[in-house]
Amino acid sequence: MDLRSNYLGLVLKNPLVPSASPLSRNIDSAKELEDAGASALVMYSLFEEEIEEDDRVFDNSVHQDIGHGEASSYLPPDLSNQCYLDLYLTQLIELKRSLDIPVIASLNGTTMGGWVEHAIELQQSGADALELNVYHVPADLDETSAAVEARYVDLLTELKKHIDIPITMKLSSQFSSPGNMVKRLEAAGADGVVLFNRFYQPDIDLERLSIRHSLSLSRSPESLLAMRWIAILYGRVKLSLAATGGIHTADDALKILLAGADVCHMTAALLQYGPSHLTGMLEEITVWLEKNEYDSIEQMKGSVSQQHAAHPVDFERANYIALLQGFV
Ligand SMILES: Cc1cc2nc3c(=O)[nH]c(=O)nc-3n(C[C@H](O)[C@H](O)[C@H](O)COP(=O)(O)O)c2cc1C
Repeated sequence: MDLRSNYLGLVLKNPLVPSASPLSRNIDSAKELEDAGASALVMYSLFEEEIEEDDRVFDNSVHQDIGHGEASSYLPPDLSNQCYLDLYLTQLIELKRSLDIPVIASLNGTTMGGWVEHAIELQQSGADALELNVYHVPADLDETSAAVEARYVDLLTELKKHIDIPITMKLSSQFSSPGNMVKRLEAAGADGVVLFNRFYQPDIDLERLSIRHSLSLSRSPESLLAMRWIAILYGRVKLSLAATGGIHTADDALKILLAGADVCHMTAALLQYGPSHLTGMLEEITVWLEKNEYDSIEQMKGSVSQQHAAHPVDFERANYIALLQGFV
């Protein structure tokens, strides 16, 4: 069975790719993912805030050196080794050295700043592609939707000035018109999109009357959100399509591929069941493809996209009306 899939111009041996997570912080766990069948690896993110913190520490150290010679002795002697950027680059180089599969670096930020230029260093350190996660919560009520959208396009445009490796944008689902947003990003040079960023919602602690932060892992039904939009986009845009959020089983992955995705990203299932879960999924995917007389992933990709579905409107409003009216 030919499980290969083309993503961002990279020919991957199959469509299962661990997404940004702590699993890439450790070389051994990354190697386990590769051995279990992962066809590429997205690194955990380097955050805008971390790079800015590096810059602040650097500025302080320079000023202390000039103004307060004595104070510089308080600084850790190997300060440069503590920089988030340096640590990230070192891990990227280590991952590239240890793995044969492509490694996709991840930048996570929301504002246009000097930090964007650091993408050059990610490219120089061997990243095969770059994922940009604009995890932006527009809490400023004066920020218009046009301004929010411009953030994504402007950040991408700026990044494109600095690097040649493919860039994929990890998007929020909360746009008025997600499909149009994807088209605009494609026009601005995006090589791919990752649908969708999973927002973590703050909770309220009823005992302490304070905000509580907890990270709950996804469940399978969440993957239907990305599946719908990938089905709508397939065949209408040329950039690569990746799905993230709720892909836990072979069935989840098959549906995402039938909708038209090039890549199924996974984190929660790998954290819960371990890297070997990938091996089982690849076996199940192969069995399903054989049973349904497909020769390859490329052949089945998009078979149930909106353009190819028997009832295309089912991906739109009609689905909703039928569901509500059919409920007894
Ligand atoms: C513990 C943890 C850490 C994560 N770290 C990052 C990160 O650094 N950057 C990022 O873009 N996404 C990050 N994610 C999001 C995942 O890459 C993924 O998009 C999300 O978990 C949805 O996929 P899933 O349902 O397979 O978990 C993280 C998720 C988890 C659970």
